Amino acid sequence: MTSVTLSSKNPTAVKAEVLVVATAQTSDGVAVVSDQLPTDLLTELESLAPQLGVTGARDEVRKIPAGPKLAVDVLVLTGLGERAEDGTFAAETLRRAAGAATRELAGLKSAAIALPASDDDEITAVTEGALLGAYAFNRYRTSGKDAGKDNTAKDGAKAAKNGKDPVAALEILTPLHKNAKAKVAAERAEIVAAAVHAARDLVNAAPNELYPATFADAAKAAAKDVRHVKVTVLDDKQLASGGYGGLTAVGQGSSRGPRLVKVAYTPAKPNGRVALVGKGITFDSGGISIKPAAGMEAMKSDMAGAAAVLSTVVAAARLNLPVAVTGYLCLAENMPGGNAQRPADVITIYGGKTVEVLNTDAEGRIVMADGLVSAIEDGHDVVLDIATLTGAQMVALGNRTSAVMGTDAVRDEVKAAADTSGELFWPMPLPEELKSNIKSKVADVANSGPRWGGMLNAGLFLQTFVGDHPWAHLDIAGPAFNEGSGHGYTPGGGTGVGVRTLLSFLEGRAAAK
Ligand code: BES
Ligand code: MN
Ligand code: ZN
Repeated sequence: MTSVTLSSKNPTAVKAEVLVVATAQTSDGVAVVSDQLPTDLLTELESLAPQLGVTGARDEVRKIPAGPKLAVDVLVLTGLGERAEDGTFAAETLRRAAGAATRELAGLKSAAIALPASDDDEITAVTEGALLGAYAFNRYRTSGKDAGKDNTAKDGAKAAKNGKDPVAALEILTPLHKNAKAKVAAERAEIVAAAVHAARDLVNAAPNELYPATFADAAKAAAKDVRHVKVTVLDDKQLASGGYGGLTAVGQGSSRGPRLVKVAYTPAKPNGRVALVGKGITFDSGGISIKPAAGMEAMKSDMAGAAAVLSTVVAAARLNLPVAVTGYLCLAENMPGGNAQRPADVITIYGGKTVEVLNTDAEGRIVMADGLVSAIEDGHDVVLDIATLTGAQMVALGNRTSAVMGTDAVRDEVKAAADTSGELFWPMPLPEELKSNIKSKVADVANSGPRWGGMLNAGLFLQTFVGDHPWAHLDIAGPAFNEGSGHGYTPGGGTGVGVRTLLSFLEGRAAAK
């Protein structure tokens, strides 16, 4: 990962390839809000801005030659938009602008960042955003991986698209470079960004390489050398004999058997116990209810929930949070095949409830049911589940906003955690009167219902297995995988969504009295 240091160097003397500077929109034009810069340079840049077509708008990133007064070659101007009413910029605005800038720095060795960074919240936001934007997935490329060799700042954007690695080193310019709280803030940001990157890597991995058994290996590798974290794996035979009928049924159409991986972080004196259950369908073909060919490749991302859970547990441990967390990764590959489950099959979920499988493409809720029952049995104060569960989530909220449903208090707690972290989540209901949608003619419950309210039907299905235990369900179907190009600190492909919200939830629990 990109390295970060805090420094109070004078930006005119900084010897990086690039200096990142923040612009903003004001009532009378463009303001350069990097107060690390000397005033004469600020005024000069501000008066040049209109001629350069720089407006200071959000998501605007422009590169200009730095001129003789600076030791860097190139200035990157990144837009913050308008100030909030209190005169500051929201943390998420800083994160976004920092990440939009670092996404343009691929292939470079070094950059300095002069964004607002005069308290620990600003430092957290700028560092987090910068590192989140400094991401590339080049594992499968055999050419074009010549990061920093003879690349210049000018072709950074092209480089990002052609497989260059992210900028190697970042220097965050702040007067608080020696402040203990600021250092802690920057370290936390590094742990959070590493967790998000790890989740993105898993989502971007090709499904012939990442299947349930290798995902389990990846979980063991991620937890290795992390204190107080233990990984246990149930394989297909143990799942079948142990009564995990959901994972078994979904996994049986694939030659690659299902797994249930438990990742337990148990600190010495935990302030409560939280379970995180993640959907880990390493590829969702739909099974016998097969999906259309167009766009099916995106279904390698159907394990994004499990990836977020794994990353979150590891990050919680690395942050030494005083709260116990167990992740349940519900891993299976949903394939058609001679042994695949059929529409009309009746299966028995862990714990004994029966499900009529009406549509084998509604497989996520089936594997999640096993995970939820198992998590509740293990005795947690609260259970959160996270899944790329329904196409209906995208119909309702689009590709950037995730949904959260559940018991009222936990749902609101997740929403608040999301707001703190900067991730977009929105609360959704679980209407009693829609329960009839998932009534089965032959079993306790059916795995699919009418199209309308598809996201809520899925939530209600999960609720059947949770009862009134404190719980929230996070549907990240749209936001988990960006099929378009990057924006802000979000790259194309796997986004790592959910990690920051789950971590912020855990931090809240850890701090609770
Ligand atoms: N993995 C999909 C949901 C999904 C779709 C996630 C698109 C991300 C992008 C899930 O397993 C699924 O296929 N759901 C069906 C359920 C239906 C058959 C009741 C859906 O949403 O269409
Ligand atoms: Mn499906
Ligand atoms: Zn699925």
